[in-house]
Amino acid sequence: MKKLEIVRKGITDFYNLIAERDTSANITDDCINLFESDFNRLYDLNKYVDSSVCDFFYKDSVLLKMIKTIDEFRMAYGIVKEKELTEKILESNEPWLELKTYKYYSNYLKLVDAEIKGAGLEEGDKVLFIGSGPCPITLFILCSVYNIIAAGIEQNPENVEMSCSLIKHLGLQNRVNIIDGNHYSVPLERKLDLVMVGESVRPKKECFNYLSAVLPLKTKVSHRINEVGLKKLLDGPDIVLPGRFKTVEKIYPGKPVINTAVFYEVKVD
Ligand SMILES: C[S@@+](CC[C@H](N)C(=O)[O-])C[C@H]1O[C@@H](n2cnc3c(N)ncnc32)[C@H](O)[C@@H]1O
Repeated sequence: MKKLEIVRKGITDFYNLIAERDTSANITDDCINLFESDFNRLYDLNKYVDSSVCDFFYKDSVLLKMIKTIDEFRMAYGIVKEKELTEKILESNEPWLELKTYKYYSNYLKLVDAEIKGAGLEEGDKVLFIGSGPCPITLFILCSVYNIIAAGIEQNPENVEMSCSLIKHLGLQNRVNIIDGNHYSVPLERKLDLVMVGESVRPKKECFNYLSAVLPLKTKVSHRINEVGLKKLLDGPDIVLPGRFKTVEKIYPGKPVINTAVFYEVKVD
């Protein structure tokens, strides 16, 4: 079978599994638990996904709808896993040890280091992270390793509550702040040295369009993207960068990190 057919079959089969089970707009926890192993197996498709496969999917409205639904499943699954990690850290008497022994912690360290360098950040700079989630690891690293003044925005009230409890448990309550809201809640009254748009922020286009409309000239914005594999396919077509943004740099931190950090700047007034 050709690679396109292999990916098409894998995606269609998984879509049919979850679509039959869950016709609601939101993917339920029940659906996630039931299809967790099928979802993880989907990553076997990684080696068959390349840019020609992605282009084919993006041009076909039926396939595009399928990857959008699977992307929603992926987001919901990511939050379930992040909540499990948050609960584990909250229950621990040694929360920092628990956090630092999380299997992907060192990947986050590498990625954040690339983002610090790419944006030219220094101690005391102010960074806002949109889509911080229940366990805002990026914010923890920014403030504890680099002495950055860090804040997150999170749209789900339950995740806001969990992240605030976690911040307290880690003793960071005077250093990390979470705003209950979405991309429209970006505080514009203070100068931000970097606005980070999380990988899982949705709808991406709406978020970037809004930021482009309201951020002051020279504001730096970064975003985590996937350049290969199933994650790239599920991310959907690249966003068309709004007029005021210019791409400044792109840094891949190196293996085993999956994300590439892209940096934009508001160039046009
Ligand atoms: C997987 S989680 C957290 C990401 C993770 N902590 C990190 O360091 O990238 C993604 C979170 O982004 C939030 N989110 C998605 N779109 C958003 C938006 N437009 N504004 C605010 N939060 C958003 C979701 O509610 C979810 O909790």
